[in-house]
Amino acid sequence: MQRYGLIGHPLGHSFSKVFFEEKFLREGRNDLRYDLFDLPELAELPALLRDSPELVGLNVTIPYKEAIIPYLHELDPIAASVGAVNTITIRDGRLKGYNTDIDGFRALIMPFLDELTARGGDIRPRALVLGTGGASRAVAFVLRELGVRFRLVSRGRGDLTWDQVDRTVISVCPLIINTTPLGMAPHVDEAPPLPYEAITARHTLIDLVYNPEMTRFLELGRKAGAKVANGRAMLTVQAEAAWAVWNE
Ligand SMILES: NC(=O)c1ccc[n+]([C@@H]2O[C@H](COP(=O)([O-])OP(=O)(O)OC[C@H]3O[C@@H](n4cnc5c(N)ncnc54)[C@H](OP(=O)(O)O)[C@@H]3O)[C@@H](O)[C@H]2O)c1
Repeated sequence: MQRYGLIGHPLGHSFSKVFFEEKFLREGRNDLRYDLFDLPELAELPALLRDSPELVGLNVTIPYKEAIIPYLHELDPIAASVGAVNTITIRDGRLKGYNTDIDGFRALIMPFLDELTARGGDIRPRALVLGTGGASRAVAFVLRELGVRFRLVSRGRGDLTWDQVDRTVISVCPLIINTTPLGMAPHVDEAPPLPYEAITARHTLIDLVYNPEMTRFLELGRKAGAKVANGRAMLTVQAEAAWAVWNE
């Protein structure tokens, strides 16, 4: 039996568990398992690894994508430059970290970016990235790679604080990407605090949250005529890329 799993906290409904269980079933792999490991403290990880020697791969989710790094023996060079890890291989007791969120986000953003770029006379749009956690690091890496200038909005460690995001900032940033958990189930009434009245049909709003499918952030954008997309496409691509890493 080879085991895979997801670490994070709190872990509610998990797309990854459903995704991998269906995959193993489809491929007739009843020698494989995918479990959820809700770790209130990341310091519980060494005990989990000690008690589960059959673990060969882990996914990492909120809030541990950055905090996991000191627990790893090795870091893939791309994950090192992103500064966040969402996939781990475990071989002979050694943990190596990778980032497949970048593959997922690249796949999600490309069609929207091409469209915005064409509309802007072949000039990349400016972006506003909400939040500065693990997922934000993957988003920032991909935006840099694609030549998109962006500003980070944060409660403390970004370029702008939330109250600095006024109508002018919104109007010069046609691409707005939410990487905070605001609006994620069960807190479906929440949304990033933005001056939504400044959003127009020229805007594209991307939410990395995928549960619910139409978050309040996306709904407010849609009502203003903006193009909107949730994080579902990103999720599928990052999970497939994690599977490829585990099978390298
Ligand atoms: N679709 C996908 O494939 C995919 C992949 C990765 C993540 N996600 C989703 O993205 C979200 C973030 O994940 P993560 O791993 O980056 O989490 P994380 O490392 O905990 O970072 C979340 C960031 O959001 C901001 N934030 C959190 N609570 C906030 C609040 N109440 N008000 C304002 N800002 C707040 C914080 O930024 P500041 O500290 O700078 O304020 C925090 O660093 C989750 O909902 C996750 O499910 C989706």
